[in-house]
Amino acid sequence: MPERIGIVTGGGDCPGLNAVIRAVVKAAAHRGWEAVGFLGGYEGMLAPLSYRPLDYTQMGGLLFRGGTILGTSNKGRFAAKTGHGEVRRVPEEILGEAKRNFDALGLRALVCIGGDGSLTIAQQLYETGVPVVGVPKTIDNDLDATLMTFGFETAVTCAVDALDRLHSTAESHNRVMVLEVMGRYAGWIAGSAGLAGGADVILIPEIEFNYDSVVAKIREREAQGKHFTIVIVAEGARLAGGAFVTAGEAGSNREARLGGIGQVVASELEARTGKECRAVVLGHLQRGGAPTAWDRHLCTRFGVSAVELIAEGRYGHMVALNGTGIEPVLLTDAIDKIRTVPPDGELVRVARAIGISFGNE
Ligand code: F6P
Repeated sequence: MPERIGIVTGGGDCPGLNAVIRAVVKAAAHRGWEAVGFLGGYEGMLAPLSYRPLDYTQMGGLLFRGGTILGTSNKGRFAAKTGHGEVRRVPEEILGEAKRNFDALGLRALVCIGGDGSLTIAQQLYETGVPVVGVPKTIDNDLDATLMTFGFETAVTCAVDALDRLHSTAESHNRVMVLEVMGRYAGWIAGSAGLAGGADVILIPEIEFNYDSVVAKIREREAQGKHFTIVIVAEGARLAGGAFVTAGEAGSNREARLGGIGQVVASELEARTGKECRAVVLGHLQRGGAPTAWDRHLCTRFGVSAVELIAEGRYGHMVALNGTGIEPVLLTDAIDKIRTVPPDGELVRVARAIGISFGNE
């Protein structure tokens, strides 16, 4: 009997999931191993068991296909974070059932492709006796212990494209355009896209903002003869002393859904400046579609490295980008806390050096 490994994609979808699946299946096949994929996220490991064989001959076209051919979920019986962000232990009977089904399929290892919630589940499965290897996925880039997650660069590219388009319409109408992007409690997408897309103001969760500062930036541009301003705001950004703006309530096993800050900022800036302001929410466009060349490259490296870890028997680890190379790190190091933008780090320093405001000057 050839060796068999399992693959599961968990949490929100992300450009590059299929590229990782492809790389894992191909690298496994190269070693003579078979692969199966659980369907619908971790729920596929529970009764009624839901999985499909993944043959390397079926991997054509997956490198650039968005979403995940396995389906995914950030809800259900496994959900490992509560609405308050604290880690919830998946019930022992759920972990035990998944382990029994994993064993019954004769699997050697499980590749868990996910962000902090899904990798928290992976760690709990590992503690239950499932040999797991993690692959860091999230457009938010907020996982600790890796310089970058896959999907992030694609999301930034999408946001930069939006900023490019907003520039021309903002300039034609002398307007303030506010682009709201995702990222949860981290400002990586807003910060990186703002820098690459020439935003005038970047509002991120790590730096609380005030309206006086943003208005001052708009006035400064007016004085320079620039009658339009581009603001990029992370969904988790908030006013100094203010609360997060949410689009959906937290549930018992679901985090609060952030969203709406863009319109709040646009309305307030219009009231304060008398200028026409418009808000655009980029939303799930950032998560859909084909991964960029960089992400395809990263996904392929991550997938191949995950299979190498299995071959070495290094379970309880995640593949991570460290410098220019891929290295294994402990899953526990990746999930302990989220990685946020350092307010005094390079990204902010470079942006400030070219006159970009973070709304707190
Ligand atoms: O974690 C990825 C992410 O896209 C966040 O940036 C965003 O806050 C959240 O997921 C949205 O989740 P949902 O797809 O459930 O609306």
